[in-house]
Amino acid sequence: MHTPDFGRTRPLAPSIHPSAVYCVPDLDVLDAIYVGGEPGFIYARDGHPNARSLAMELAKAEAAAWGIVTASGMGAISGPLLSLVSQGERIVASNSLYGKTTKLLAQEMSRFGVVSQFVDTNDLAAVRLALDTPSRILLVETVSNPLCRIADLTALAELAHARNCLLFVDNTFASPYLCRPLVMGADLVMESLTKMIGGHSDVTLGFVGGSNAAHATPVGAGISTWGLAANPFDCWLAERGLATLDLRMPAATANAIAIADWLVTQPGIVRVVYPGRHDHPDHELAKRILPNGSGNMLCFELAGGRDAVNHFMHHATEVPFCPSLGHHRTTCSHPDTTSHRYEPKEEKRKLGITPGLVRLSVGCEPLAEIQREMGKGLG
Ligand SMILES: Cc1ncc(COP(=O)(O)O)c(C=O)c1O
Repeated sequence: MHTPDFGRTRPLAPSIHPSAVYCVPDLDVLDAIYVGGEPGFIYARDGHPNARSLAMELAKAEAAAWGIVTASGMGAISGPLLSLVSQGERIVASNSLYGKTTKLLAQEMSRFGVVSQFVDTNDLAAVRLALDTPSRILLVETVSNPLCRIADLTALAELAHARNCLLFVDNTFASPYLCRPLVMGADLVMESLTKMIGGHSDVTLGFVGGSNAAHATPVGAGISTWGLAANPFDCWLAERGLATLDLRMPAATANAIAIADWLVTQPGIVRVVYPGRHDHPDHELAKRILPNGSGNMLCFELAGGRDAVNHFMHHATEVPFCPSLGHHRTTCSHPDTTSHRYEPKEEKRKLGITPGLVRLSVGCEPLAEIQREMGKGLG
């Protein structure tokens, strides 16, 4: 196999490097790469050019000192937890996280002797009380899934740091376009690249980065050893998605504001949940934490419960029901039966996750198109 000779030209688009392993000339070069920081790659699970390139772009977007790409968003949560938290240590977490994250803490990390306490992280007094018991990590979502509660990242960072605890932020619903948690005091930030950053629902990938360079080595080693590394083609696609994030997010946000205001006027709607609206409990906080706008995620509740949701899905078929978010076109999901399917029913109802609740990931298509399609499913 010959490396192509580009002469005095160069490809405009990034290349894909699918190699699982790299040829090293001798043991001295191998040692220089492993211990001397000489550039180069050895084994793709430990690092490859497409992961490196994407991680560097994302670290820049997040103002991070280091960044690592993982095989999924969940890998970007479990990787740092498995690397930085030890048996007997505690995690304090928001009580309104993505369902799988709650499961990771309550059912997986607990098997390794890591106890998690779930609190309402919008209640700073409750957080302070929980952190009075020494804790390694405070874990929150900038914008919570699905009800878009906003975390006061600056206040939470202050509370955590006063007790020698790290603030770890899942920024998936916001994306670095809306919020840069590390700039607000967080120590670790993660994104599910499967969502807004990928933007086209064709990659499953995650990113974790941080402000303290000392965390890069243990987290990187943990991600490699637990086998959470990302594959080159997905990294290549996500880098392409990232290139248009700053164009897609404002367009989708403008649509979301209009859709939220329009939905309250539609028949059969009990409530609309969007941080950009005055009636959202965290509307004022959202202005500070999300300076570029309230984003593209919103929820609405249908009076007719599950039957009305099915009616909506059968009629508004161009707003497809697909349990993800961040696609460039509008999609919907149903938290009660998907993202929060395995959460205890009483907990879900207490949080406001009801059978009639639909989560909307608003896209960039013309507003009238979204309204026309959604209108078919309402009333
Ligand atoms: C807020 C949030 N965090 C993390 C994840 C996990 O990401 P992934 O599906 O890429 O593992 C999701 C997935 O829906 C999510 O909504």
